[in-house]
Amino acid sequence: MTDLMDSLDHFLSRALSDIRKHNLLRHLRSLDSPQGGRVSVEERTLVNFSSNDYLGLAGHPALREAAVKEFERGGFGTGASRLVCGTFAAHEELEAAVAAFKRTPAALTFSSGYAAAMGTIPALCGKDDVIILDKLCHACLVDGARLSGAHLRVFPHNDTAKLESHLRWARSRHPAARVLILAESVYSMDGDTAPLAEVVELKDRHGAWLFLDEAHGVGVLGRSGRGLADKLGVAGRIEVQMGTLGKALGAHGAYIAGSRKLRDFLINRNRAFIYSTAPPPPVAAAATAAIGILCSDEGSALQKKLWLNIRALQSGLALNGVESAIVPVIIGEEKNAMNAAAKLLHTGFLVPAIRYPTVARGTARLRITLSAAHTTSDITRLARAFGPLAHEG
Ligand SMILES: Cc1ncc(COP(=O)(O)O)c(C=O)c1O
Repeated sequence: MTDLMDSLDHFLSRALSDIRKHNLLRHLRSLDSPQGGRVSVEERTLVNFSSNDYLGLAGHPALREAAVKEFERGGFGTGASRLVCGTFAAHEELEAAVAAFKRTPAALTFSSGYAAAMGTIPALCGKDDVIILDKLCHACLVDGARLSGAHLRVFPHNDTAKLESHLRWARSRHPAARVLILAESVYSMDGDTAPLAEVVELKDRHGAWLFLDEAHGVGVLGRSGRGLADKLGVAGRIEVQMGTLGKALGAHGAYIAGSRKLRDFLINRNRAFIYSTAPPPPVAAAATAAIGILCSDEGSALQKKLWLNIRALQSGLALNGVESAIVPVIIGEEKNAMNAAAKLLHTGFLVPAIRYPTVARGTARLRITLSAAHTTSDITRLARAFGPLAHEG
């Protein structure tokens, strides 16, 4: 080995042992079955309370059929970025379906939510601008904001008074700046929702734009699962609506929905879109099929079942005001959260322990995610399994 490789190896060993010492080491676990309410891991069947497949669509036959049909029509790899020669009919069909679903004039899709945020935020704001974001925003929003080079202001989670004071600061200190607010409809590790109607009022009052990430709202909230903005009747006032296609929609990728000009602008300025190979058409076709299901009676029935499961867990764990399909149970110490997750695994439940840096140190938690694919008995048994864990916190 060269000296350079030796020193890299040395660095990696030290870094990994440091991560391990703090109970923060992560590893991959692979499934031997399709995604679903039950999964097979290392030859054990587990009840899966860890995926974002809220409606159980990831293994739905209609998505599989749409993907296979598209594969037979146009193959798999796209061979180029969307702007070169990687745009296929399936991408355009998906974008038309997203725009119709979100009731926006247009939409643009991306290979992931991470890419959508990382490309869009810096396209909209630069070093002379101001970005104001909720403290609990997902890493992709934080990273997009940092990459933009804009002046950043963070407000405590859902604290609209502080948001307003940042907006006043932005308007007085940077009068010519573009001001962009970043928020999520459902916060991914806490499962609570944004005070969206108030955020929309504030951004209008102070002449700011809103970028709303509905990654965990789509499929779960609003009519046909259109999201929180639709549920509250404010969707038409939000400049940039992002959502993912790989969670409740059971496929892969993400979208930005908004005006036609926003779409045209992102095609020209979003670096994650421009400089990346287009997603495979079968994946786009599966996402289009998922939107079709959401808008059908079957979709309404799945959303209803999901909410029955959410309410059943809420009462089983004696919780107040669960607002989404994400139910965190805060444990505190990283090690205790790991132990609790291991005990649940032993009893046959896959519930992930979420630790720093995904959440703040000392706020490690079990993150239960519910799906329409769970049975009532899955929920009752999970709630019962939590009893012996009460001491872990
Ligand atoms: C709130 C939120 N936004 C964006 C993303 C990123 O989406 P994707 O997984 O498609 O990259 C996630 C996914 O983990 C998320 O939870």
